[in-house]
Amino acid sequence: MAEISLVKKGAQLELEIERLVFGGRGLAHHDGFVVFVDGTLPGQKVSARVVKKRKGYAEARVESILRRSARQVEPQCVHFGECGGCRFQHYAYEAQLAAKLGQVVESLEHIGGFSNPPVLPVLGSPEPFYYRNKMEYSFGRQRWLCREEIENDQLAKPKDFALGLHVRGRFDKILDLDTCYLQSQLSVDILNFVRDFAKESGEHPYTTVDHTGYWRHLVVRDAKQTGDLLVNVVTADHKDHDLLVGVLAKKLLQAFPQITTLVHNINRRKAQVAIGDSERIIYGPGTITEKIGDCTYQISANSFFQTNSLGAKILYDKVLDFAGFGENDLVFDLYAGAGTISIYAARRVRQVVGFEIVTDAIKDAQMNCGLNEVTNCSFVAGDLKSSLVAKEAVAAYGTPDVLLIDPPRAGMHPDVLNQVQILAPGRIVYISCNPTTFARDVQILCDTKYELAQVQPVDMFPMTPHIELVSLLNRC
Ligand SMILES: C[S@@+](CC[C@H](N)C(=O)[O-])C[C@H]1O[C@@H](n2cnc3c(N)ncnc32)[C@H](O)[C@@H]1O
Repeated sequence: MAEISLVKKGAQLELEIERLVFGGRGLAHHDGFVVFVDGTLPGQKVSARVVKKRKGYAEARVESILRRSARQVEPQCVHFGECGGCRFQHYAYEAQLAAKLGQVVESLEHIGGFSNPPVLPVLGSPEPFYYRNKMEYSFGRQRWLCREEIENDQLAKPKDFALGLHVRGRFDKILDLDTCYLQSQLSVDILNFVRDFAKESGEHPYTTVDHTGYWRHLVVRDAKQTGDLLVNVVTADHKDHDLLVGVLAKKLLQAFPQITTLVHNINRRKAQVAIGDSERIIYGPGTITEKIGDCTYQISANSFFQTNSLGAKILYDKVLDFAGFGENDLVFDLYAGAGTISIYAARRVRQVVGFEIVTDAIKDAQMNCGLNEVTNCSFVAGDLKSSLVAKEAVAAYGTPDVLLIDPPRAGMHPDVLNQVQILAPGRIVYISCNPTTFARDVQILCDTKYELAQVQPVDMFPMTPHIELVSLLNRC
């Protein structure tokens, strides 16, 4: 008689969580099936209900914890469990690092096809809390109703106004944060002040549903090394911004003399991004200065910058270490952003050429070269798919000795990978914030000309499932 599987949609199962997989879900086995359970930790025994069944695996939702994990700790934040920010505050930091190492190794083995990949233990963040130099909060008309207020029937706050972070998996709901362990207490105080003002202003949060409302985002950039503090208020358009953001700015500057610059971005589009079509500088220079190691960087409200300044030093030092630069080396820095790594490397080599699609980032990069008295960096604007046409780049600058590659989460486009293979430098240092696309890309490089020599994960995002890594590929 054929066996009937117990893993069916709606079934309640007792599961032993074995480990965390990419994205931070717990993995268990039941009845020959892999079952993924969100919000669980290795070592926990849980009662969970199957919500999805596919060929070979299922997904289940936790109903109760039957046994705690030995590495479980008390979360510090009252919003833990509901906020999309810190998902692992209840997991000992050393255990988080071990889980992240497992995810990098697993990606390289399963996606990249490497056996025993050369992955070093994860380097932890110097600060596991309050490490972010940038927080982007959202306004919303649908406040998430917290467990506690529902249980205690204390629905005192209005339901149609919130400023905070998205609830995990719910892009329509905003958790009205009044505390946070990711940035600084000052950032949280500014958040609470702005919310109180906006609520009293008579204007609603913006909604994409009918493209109405005013308040859209609040961005706080808090330089950890210099104390500079940028506040960026993002709104929709309005006939009288001075009555709204203008008054808010005056009050904020009075209440928080620590603010060194205040800007207003106006986003007239439907896209829910904190980048405006136009920016008004209301106070100060419109930029902040931050340091990584002994390099100084000027950052505007909208430019990309590593969010963990102290972690970035560890990451960039590893880049220098792996690259083993010589003073005659020509280096191509692909996906250069505001030239942060180019500038960090420049003093050790003959020349760096950075390639970047965002022209404003290139302007920042050029300005940052001046700030650091770096004269041997140049930048090429454009999409790498066409700007790194190997023949043209080589004709203009020569054949690079080292490539630094730091793509977005999606990894390298096949056309870029192709060009990299044509350039074929002796060493490639690949930096990635996504072990799965990294594993895919290095497999392609290692199938032809390269050997994966070392991988160093660096934890830039404590309390979250994310991990950054630096790797060295040597040409065979
Ligand atoms: C992860 S960031 C790296 C930034 C920089 N290396 C740093 O450490 O600050 C990726 C960068 O790639 C750029 N980018 C994304 N797609 C690109 C493309 N097709 N061509 C050129 N640059 C691209 C983005 O604008 C972004 O600045």
